[in-house]
Amino acid sequence: MEFTAFVLSQLPPAPARVLEIGCGPDGGIVPALVDAGHDAIGVDPRAPDGERFRATAFQELDEGRFDAVVGERVLHHVEPLGPSLDRLAELAPTLVLEEFAWEQMDEPTRDWYESQHRLLRAAGVEPNGPPDFARWEDEHDDLHRSDTLRRELAERYEDNHFEWRPYLYRWLAGPSTEPLEETLIRSGAIRPLGFRWAGVSRSSPQG
Ligand SMILES: C[S@@+](CC[C@H](N)C(=O)[O-])C[C@H]1O[C@@H](n2cnc3c(N)ncnc32)[C@H](O)[C@@H]1O
Repeated sequence: MEFTAFVLSQLPPAPARVLEIGCGPDGGIVPALVDAGHDAIGVDPRAPDGERFRATAFQELDEGRFDAVVGERVLHHVEPLGPSLDRLAELAPTLVLEEFAWEQMDEPTRDWYESQHRLLRAAGVEPNGPPDFARWEDEHDDLHRSDTLRRELAERYEDNHFEWRPYLYRWLAGPSTEPLEETLIRSGAIRPLGFRWAGVSRSSPQG
């Protein structure tokens, strides 16, 4: 299921007021949420121009409450994590996420990833991700682990949904990498490095 379809399955009925955090320079899923009838805006210091985008950090936003916040691959970067999650729990009762559990990488998964990277490059496809995971990890020692993130979420939200998912297809960007990664995860050959999560804030009147 695409991230947009997952988010739509977790949102209240349209029209809901939805904030996408970390929508990136492409505007994330804000246009798709608007097409689905929601009143959506995106916030990111790198947000594109436009009436539905705010070029700042979500912690600085002052536009009242929302029905839901969504974030794709954002929270493992956010500092300071606890106070930022407190802010999100105040902003909206519902939080819907896709995240990167980078610390779940093990040797078979890394071997598979790096060999796919080499094969794709040899075939003329330039992957988005790094060729060498260990080097990437050394250069990214400030990211939150998924167990830290999930523990901090559990302090503020009731879980509605959790599922492990493929992630490396996003880095590899090969034409059929996602189904291959899914098949290998299902057989136990490699690990899932992504997860989807949705929860309801314990501090919300609706939570
Ligand atoms: C890995 S990118 C993900 C972009 C997009 N969501 C995607 O999945 O392609 C992380 C994004 O989070 C943004 N970001 C990090 N901290 C943020 C904050 N405090 N408020 C809003 N956006 C933030 C970054 O600027 C970056 O665009």
